Amino acid sequence: MSDEFRNPFRPTFGSPPPRFVGREAIRWSFAQGLDDGPGSPARATLYVGARGVGKTAMLNEAEREAELRGWIVIRETARAGLVDSLMRARIPEAFAALDGRPSGPARRITGVDTPFGGVSFDSTTNDPEISPDLRSMIEQLEQIASTGDTGVLLSIDELHAAATEEIREIAIAIQHTFRRQLNVAFVGAGLPAGLDAILDDDIITFLRRADRHDLGPIDLTLVDEGLRDPAAKAGRPFDDDALRLATAATEGFAFMIQLVGFHCINVDRTSPTITVADARIGIDAARHRVDSLVHEPEFRGLTDRERAFVFAMVDDADETAMAAIRERTGLDMNNTNTHRHRLIRKGVIRPVRKGYVAFANAGFRTYLGNRKLN
Ligand SMILES: Nc1ncnc2c1ncn2[C@@H]1O[C@H](COP(=O)(O)OP(=O)(O)OP(=O)(O)O)[C@@H](O)[C@H]1O
Ligand SMILES: [Mg+2]
Repeated sequence: MSDEFRNPFRPTFGSPPPRFVGREAIRWSFAQGLDDGPGSPARATLYVGARGVGKTAMLNEAEREAELRGWIVIRETARAGLVDSLMRARIPEAFAALDGRPSGPARRITGVDTPFGGVSFDSTTNDPEISPDLRSMIEQLEQIASTGDTGVLLSIDELHAAATEEIREIAIAIQHTFRRQLNVAFVGAGLPAGLDAILDDDIITFLRRADRHDLGPIDLTLVDEGLRDPAAKAGRPFDDDALRLATAATEGFAFMIQLVGFHCINVDRTSPTITVADARIGIDAARHRVDSLVHEPEFRGLTDRERAFVFAMVDDADETAMAAIRERTGLDMNNTNTHRHRLIRKGVIRPVRKGYVAFANAGFRTYLGNRKLN
């Protein structure tokens, strides 16, 4: 093998995977929202989940669906000054993209007070909630969306990091364009805890009604493809048994697909295939990385009682009855329910059916199991 071999896997948060697998139904639901036209509930969509579950990658897929349909995509990552950055950079860039289109008529930002294209802004002028900045955002989104066949998608990652006030402004802007039946869609992603805090704000009903997808584990039959295909294309395919081991080791966790692939392929760069022996070593390396990057920080973020709660779940295969958790921890009904709620918010566990919970990420159970033994 040459030294120029490049590892195809991307075990970095925010890096697009070489092969995106799973979540087909979630992608479809968004794509159909775009096709169904204004008023479709999927035109406001949220992807929610813990670190490394694949929110950013999913967001990119949604953006791609919009781009495939000729939509203009305005993408931003939330931080302080979000609205300002949209107004000063992202929206002007969207206008520039619109101008560059061969089929579209030439367009200019006409300024907030200039009417254009027969669209009137009566709906915004008298609303006391609308600041000049916000009014300008609404008008510009409307301007992009009401010209030609183009729609506009606003995509915001890391919503949990945004100030509620800024999200509120954006929500009002989008809501206005929805009411006007324009081709506008919104897609956002964030960690459950931070996002729930924003959604608790009564004023942002728009987001609470959004089509919310809590990203769960990826089906292992699909993970198989996510490992096999990039390795084969890179010229170092998995042996069948090695692939089975590697697939199982991911436990359906998106970040782990990339970690396992990356480390398995790296073990022996002189070998034409990835053998079972290589896979064992690679999986071990991947587990070390995922423990230190995901599970240890997650564990450190838990209180003593929350730790007792999750340790009480470790020995069950899939799901645990709330009654069993009460019995094993000695916590009363109220306390168990409070901690259940907090752990769901932290993205550690998920409700499965009435009276039962499961780990949001099965890898965390494996981590806790090892911790318990040591
Ligand atoms: N559907 C998928 N198939 C294969 N790999 C994926 C998939 N989704 C994400 N990944 C990979 O998993 C890792 C984490 O993905 P991503 O950065 O999208 O997670 P995230 O939920 O946005 O994490 P964070 O909370 O840190 O923002 C990346 O290495 C990415 O390439
Ligand atoms: Mg992300």
